[in-house]
Amino acid sequence: MKLFTVAALAGLISLGIYLVPKSPPPDPMGEESLAGKTSSIANQQAQDQQTRGAYLAQVGNCMGCHTVQGGRPYAGGHSLATSIGTFITPNITPDEETGIGLWNEQDFWRALHDGKARDGSPLYPAFPYTDYTKVTREDTNAIFAYLQSLPAVKQRNSPSRISFPFNVRPLLYLWRVLFFTEGVYQPEPAKSDEWNRGAYLVQGLGHCNACHTTRNPLGASQGNILGGGQIMGSNWYAPSLTSLQEASTSDWPIGEIVQLLTTGLSSRAVTTGPMADVVSQSLQHLAASDARAVATYLKSLPGSAPHSRGVAPELTDEVDGQLRRGGEIYETHCQDCHGSLGQGAPSVYPALAGNRGVTLASPVNAIRSILNGGYAPVTASNPRPYGMPPFAQVLHDEEIALVLSYIRNAWGNRGSLVTAVQVDRSRKGAQ
Ligand code: HEC
Ligand code: HEC
Ligand code: HEC
Repeated sequence: MKLFTVAALAGLISLGIYLVPKSPPPDPMGEESLAGKTSSIANQQAQDQQTRGAYLAQVGNCMGCHTVQGGRPYAGGHSLATSIGTFITPNITPDEETGIGLWNEQDFWRALHDGKARDGSPLYPAFPYTDYTKVTREDTNAIFAYLQSLPAVKQRNSPSRISFPFNVRPLLYLWRVLFFTEGVYQPEPAKSDEWNRGAYLVQGLGHCNACHTTRNPLGASQGNILGGGQIMGSNWYAPSLTSLQEASTSDWPIGEIVQLLTTGLSSRAVTTGPMADVVSQSLQHLAASDARAVATYLKSLPGSAPHSRGVAPELTDEVDGQLRRGGEIYETHCQDCHGSLGQGAPSVYPALAGNRGVTLASPVNAIRSILNGGYAPVTASNPRPYGMPPFAQVLHDEEIALVLSYIRNAWGNRGSLVTAVQVDRSRKGAQ
């Protein structure tokens, strides 16, 4: 995953170079003809559109899914595990034979806005067109212009491995009737321009809801927009952005939300796993005004749950003994970085005291962090973030359960106890 991030960044940098606008050649006659002037204005407009498209493609993180680790940008081949099978993403470079070189603006609009391939067949919602449908025609055209300006890469699409009956594409017609509404984002007149811009980015290109919602077995959002959910086909839980017990930021200053989004680190939280990838591949590139707009929108989301703590276990002698043993494991293996009071070290090691990521009702993310270790996101401002070593080979299930139960109940934290069975399940499901 890290290698991929680095490759993605390297790809971005080379794309950036590719995109540096070339200055027009000097006019040998010293004055431009009218025709020349018109065509240079048209060139400039085309170039501006591509530059805007490059930015929007980053906000939509198209490259994150359409690039394989170590591969050519946008040439596809990336595996995407879901509950119904593994998708291999298609080539969206302008190669005429294997990519989208023969597509026109209208074809592309239909894909992003309406989830249809060039031949009109329905696309799987693993491609988050259910969110991209909110993107305006103008922005969609800009992304198309950008993609068409890239070098064509000849790389044939590999077939996805989807299990029966979900591999029967026409079933998607039914799915669409049940679960898909197309429509560009409609601004809410009562809200500020900044709020509307944030809502547009979060609900549309940012496709935050692709992860931060509960899905039914058919992969459709259950309507709890940004209300949190298990990510399909993975062992990660994307917390609710509307609950104060999970990841609502309604009581944070705007500056801290911006900092979390663009660097992945703030004094209150650190992003990890898939969210660290979202930050390094996409959100760190947000223009300052867009980052503020997204933060303004996130802050306005209702914090639906009161600021109460999770359910603490009843303190029997047995539980007390367990927490004590967990504390000993913490002292030996964790304290050097996370501190004797769980206070962490600013911008280096996250605090575990008061960290909502630690006390989430579902302990899956914390189990994953301990089993696999991890890094805060790689960003321009933090090119080599501090990491946490994996403990999968160091601690057994029972010990991980004990240390987690401990950190969920130390220093004022409150959370249910974690069992060895939960750790075992995560170990087996981990990918
Ligand atoms: C979460 C992963 C993901 C992201 C993010 C994503 N895509 Fe895709 N995309 C897919 C998958 C998977 C498919 C194939 C769907 C299918 O086979 O039905 C696809 C299909 C497509 C297609 C249709 C290609 C064809 O040959 O029919 C286009 C065009 C496309 N994506 C463009 C984009 C653009 C532009 C963006 C960014 C705004 C983007 N994608 C972001 C996963 C993603
Ligand atoms: C690929 C899946 C995915 C996408 C897309 C995604 N998230 Fe996340 N997000 C996660 C996961 C998993 C976590 C939990 C891990 C963590 O805390 O970093 C998370 C955590 C968060 C947190 C809480 C961080 C913390 O530790 O308190 C915020 C805030 C957040 N996401 C906002 C967003 C926004 C805004 C977007 C869209 C621009 C977005 N996410 C898109 C998967 C995703
Ligand atoms: C070498 C320093 C180091 C050690 C030792 C270490 N950690 Fe970490 N820990 C980190 C860093 C850095 C992160 C942030 C990683 C990330 O963002 O993925 C982290 C993240 C975490 C998280 C996720 C926090 C969140 O907000 O999502 C948990 C939980 C955690 N550590 C628990 C532990 C436990 C329990 C131990 C001992 C078994 C431990 N750590 C040992 C450095 C360390």
